[in-house]
Amino acid sequence: MLQNETDSIAHAGALLRAGKLVSFPTETVYGLGANALSDAAVAAIYAAKGRPTFNPLIVHVASVEEAKKYVVWNDRAELLAQTFWPGPLTFVLPRQRGCTLSLLVSAGMDTVAIRMPAHPLALALLKETQLPLAAPSANISGRISPTLASHVVEEFGGNIMVLDGGPCAVGIESTIIDLTTDNAIILRHGTVISEALQKIIPLSQQSRGDAILAPGMMKSHYAPNAKVRLNATDVREGEALLAFGTPLAGAGQMLNLSPSANLEEAAANLFKMLRELDAANPKTIAVMPISMKGLGVAINDRLSRAAADKV
Ligand code: TXA
Ligand code: MG
Repeated sequence: MLQNETDSIAHAGALLRAGKLVSFPTETVYGLGANALSDAAVAAIYAAKGRPTFNPLIVHVASVEEAKKYVVWNDRAELLAQTFWPGPLTFVLPRQRGCTLSLLVSAGMDTVAIRMPAHPLALALLKETQLPLAAPSANISGRISPTLASHVVEEFGGNIMVLDGGPCAVGIESTIIDLTTDNAIILRHGTVISEALQKIIPLSQQSRGDAILAPGMMKSHYAPNAKVRLNATDVREGEALLAFGTPLAGAGQMLNLSPSANLEEAAANLFKMLRELDAANPKTIAVMPISMKGLGVAINDRLSRAAADKV
């Protein structure tokens, strides 16, 4: 790691311009970034993650103006961007005619997922490179998303430069909203909750059900090596406990998402604590129930994928 932040950003920018991958922090999770204009650079993301190529990537931009160069903007995007950008909200919009983004970011579809991140290092890097950056979460496909620079090193073994921005404040990935039709639909829940979106634009009440609208929303994701048992009201032999609020008694190993049962704190701790408990190799991680209100929807979404059978 280089000595100071300005040097690091300049170095990261040079690598990205040369078509290399760089991991950078966002307010949600660490991203694995590449020049979104370059097929070869974007292909390198898929290769490094072992990501199925039918699963498209989010493109990060420095401003609304820049987003408009690549996607067909609309009034709802404008209203939402005024309130939530920069921040953890991703829009799915049609590709502009003649859009110069690599087709690989869209994985064969005619849409692009795009967002302007809020993390100062992410914004500094976008400014430095003057490039749109494709960046999925910086983990091997299917594994737990990284919320610390050290998690990224665990995933990729030090082969990839990581800009260290400390712990990610939000801790779970951005909310994704599909704005390509008149019916705005949440494709992935995050900290920008549906109640907050609904104050600004009408949202389709259609539930996602089992259809994979965001192709990456596979059932099994964020998977630790251990089994995950949800809504635990007791602790069984050999289980580690991921607590929420007042912990259940009897666990050998226990971490608490939020002793005061605060959902924001729980989201910020979720992936880090799953990784930490998993590192001790328990057979099962038992997770205490978390309310389905507000941000609880996004937390339970990630937990149910962590608990799903791996195919
Ligand atoms: O918070 C985040 O969004 C983080 C940080 C790094 O920005 N990124 C992230 O990327 O979570 P990733 O690749 O792990 O998840 C992107 C999700 C996938 O589920 C993918 O299928 C969906 O976005 N997606 C990407 N492009 C799409 C598109 N054109 N239409 C529908 N879904 C799309
Ligand atoms: Mg991911």
